[in-house]
Amino acid sequence: MADYKQQAAQEAAKLIQPGSAIGLGAGSTMTHLIAAIQNTPGLATTLTVASSSFTTRQLLLKEGFQVKESGWLTRLDHYFDGCDQFDWRLTALKSGGGVHAAEKVLAAMAGKFILVGDTGKRVDRLTKSFPLVVEVIPEALAFVSARLKEYFNPSRSELRLSDKKDGAVITERGNYLIDNWFDAFPEPGILNDRVTNLAGVLEHSLFFNMAHKAVTAGPDGIVVYTKP
Ligand code: 5RP
Repeated sequence: MADYKQQAAQEAAKLIQPGSAIGLGAGSTMTHLIAAIQNTPGLATTLTVASSSFTTRQLLLKEGFQVKESGWLTRLDHYFDGCDQFDWRLTALKSGGGVHAAEKVLAAMAGKFILVGDTGKRVDRLTKSFPLVVEVIPEALAFVSARLKEYFNPSRSELRLSDKKDGAVITERGNYLIDNWFDAFPEPGILNDRVTNLAGVLEHSLFFNMAHKAVTAGPDGIVVYTKP
């Protein structure tokens, strides 16, 4: 059976120039992208690489890449990442991994932020199938949950719990994650403004108007979307 994520990753790898600085995000498509880079003769050893994901970083190290700390970088040529969904404006929802704060930093420092995935990720409008994930400092947990409910009514706020340990998921920065489920997905611009401006919010998982390109693969072949 065709692996569309793999095909999209192979196409995305063609955008990488020898000697460039790239960032890689989280998910199975990124694993395919690492393999595609390794399969491009003479490319891997010339690259400066950073990652927003613990799992991707571990794989890069295991495969012998020189991985840089993103905190010491100011600019990337390309940042590649998967997503849960993206819309016509290339506004993406990246909720699954709960690592959107680190992902946004790499996306923001990249000359080009490229989404990669199968065609199923492309939707006309973002849907309620995925929550908005909000990373909050512990002091703001109840406050932010209450404001989200008030602003986007009806919606449901859930503290993300660990399935490997009793208790809440605690982020790398000691914060909580709130999964906010909507009855109807709000207008992305309004959602972005309201949540970004709430006190105690570090980052949320809506990447509003940030991506420059999306590379997808599906039954109809490769499709490359460019920011309108
Ligand atoms: C994590 C993400 C991932 O990129 C997203 O879940 C895509 O994963 P996959 O490549 O396995 O489809 O947004 O927050």
